[in-house]
Amino acid sequence: MTNNICIIGGARPNFMKIAPLIKELESQKIGFKLIHTGQHYDYNMSKIFFDNLGISEPDFFLNVGSASHAVQTAKIMIEFEKVIVEEKPRLIIVVGDVNSTIACALVAKKLQIEVAHVEAGLRSFDEKMPEEINRKLTDQLADYLFVTEESGLINLKNEGVDPNKVFFVGNIMIDNLVRNLEEAQGSDYYKELDLSKDSYGLVTIHRPSNVDTKIDLERVIEVLNHIQSKIKIVFPIHPRTQKNLKKFNLEQELNKPNIILTEPLGYLEFLNLMMNAKFILTDSGGIQEEASYLKIPILTLRQNTERPITVEKGTNTLIGNDFNKLKTNVDKILSNSYKKGQDIEMWDGKTAQRIVEIIKKKVL
Ligand code: UD1
Repeated sequence: MTNNICIIGGARPNFMKIAPLIKELESQKIGFKLIHTGQHYDYNMSKIFFDNLGISEPDFFLNVGSASHAVQTAKIMIEFEKVIVEEKPRLIIVVGDVNSTIACALVAKKLQIEVAHVEAGLRSFDEKMPEEINRKLTDQLADYLFVTEESGLINLKNEGVDPNKVFFVGNIMIDNLVRNLEEAQGSDYYKELDLSKDSYGLVTIHRPSNVDTKIDLERVIEVLNHIQSKIKIVFPIHPRTQKNLKKFNLEQELNKPNIILTEPLGYLEFLNLMMNAKFILTDSGGIQEEASYLKIPILTLRQNTERPITVEKGTNTLIGNDFNKLKTNVDKILSNSYKKGQDIEMWDGKTAQRIVEIIKKKVL
């Protein structure tokens, strides 16, 4: 086995995207090194995903931790450069849109190492989101841009990206979902929380635009209050949200019999909760896609989405700050008159295979 490839994972939403690639490379006996930047480091933000998804220990752990954007990005760059100067890969693979994605892409490119970006081309057109900046810059640097949905092709064309670098391969996160569906369902985690199928809404909220100011967090709490008056809520709390609930002295507002709070959950537990929920309320990117694939109604507490296919064909509705829109859609869901959602092109569990075929042809 040669080690021409380095795969980068750093934060929670990366791990479900690297797992299918790792499996595919291993099954084809193509060597690679796995680098974990340490952007996320708590057991239930990182290691639990390695365990759940059967990813072996990373070859390098950069241990960068949390900090301001500049400090975190800079630390990743400094540590990552040391590794790849030593390893001399021909290609690095970055996924998604977190700080580790842009940091590693920039370092590799300056060392004339090729960069593949999995989940390229997505755009929210909202530069207040740090992820939007990461996406645009990573796509400018990348040599191979692997796109999940048609909007990505259009965005990259509009930005003048050479079409020869762009490959429509589908959604790698769905590969993982397809592979783990049976095991997740079998875990019956929702029963451990004393819930029955379709009897609860599942909530995840962590975006700075929803949780970083007291006013925004109070607005989210008002939404949760409305929902819990109609149906039970399960709310695994992200560390950023937890920190801010405490900071603004709002923790007790969630102390209601119809609200079940948990720590951040592992992949299989969370997937089990998604599959059995009546609906999902989120501000996450990936969950909009997973819910659409599962055809579970999903309401997104954001003004925009970089994943428009989930609204056009999937089960997603953008709620923004419109409380009336939220109420109307919750009512539609509870009365079973919400839209149903359709299958999405190339979200079929075979994206990793398509990516590896292209890498074999172009790089190895
Ligand atoms: C990061 C990503 C975001 C992604 C999210 C998923 C960027 C710019 N943002 O945001 O795109 O949706 O991850 O989780 O890359 N913390 C812990 N333990 C951890 C990690 C973080 O307690 O393992 C706490 C720290 O106090 C930190 C805060 O959570 O200050 C926020 O973490 P950070 O990595 O800065 O951003 P996320 O909000 O997680």
